[in-house]
Amino acid sequence: MRLFFALLPQPAVRAAFAGWTMMSHAAGGGRAVRANNIHLTLAFLGEVPDAVGARAVGAGLCAAPFELVLDRIEWWRHNGLVVARAAVLPEALVDLQRTLVEALHVAGLPAEARAFKPHVTLVRDVRREPELPAVPAIHWPILDLALMESVRTDKSLSYRSAGRWTLAGRPTMLDA
Ligand code: 2AM
Repeated sequence: MRLFFALLPQPAVRAAFAGWTMMSHAAGGGRAVRANNIHLTLAFLGEVPDAVGARAVGAGLCAAPFELVLDRIEWWRHNGLVVARAAVLPEALVDLQRTLVEALHVAGLPAEARAFKPHVTLVRDVRREPELPAVPAIHWPILDLALMESVRTDKSLSYRSAGRWTLAGRPTMLDA
């Protein structure tokens, strides 16, 4: 199975990102990310035989909730993505991602080693620079952490929850 840890927006935040996706798609075409698939990747594990080890890592993490403010849309020429970004990265986000990757390594699980560049992908396959709109900020309360399985069926890609934990300073399983 193909797994990754991510932050998943609550419905109101997801709706705000979906609005950004619509505007970005109108400006530059490409393949819009479906609202239900919108997320921010913290650690990408790739192919693993099962979710047991990753779930243990998720359950063992201790972190407090924080707020992430996304305030700009960018086009990335090198991979044709249109992404939502934050001008200010909360230290709590950087710490959470680093702690997670370290815990994955300690558990002997593969985790992407490249530099963390937090983003929410809105549109893929945008090959020419679009004229992107200025947008009002999205205030996203980061309250929990999700382990997601990426499932490809024929042509469509969807994500399935493989675990979810609150960021309450102590590990609490929410659902599978
Ligand atoms: P993206 O949004 O920048 O494409 C599920 O596939 C998530 O994992 C996506 O959000 C994707 O990021 C990210 N992802 C896919 N392949 C990856 C890789 N090799 N390294 C890091 N992240 C990856």
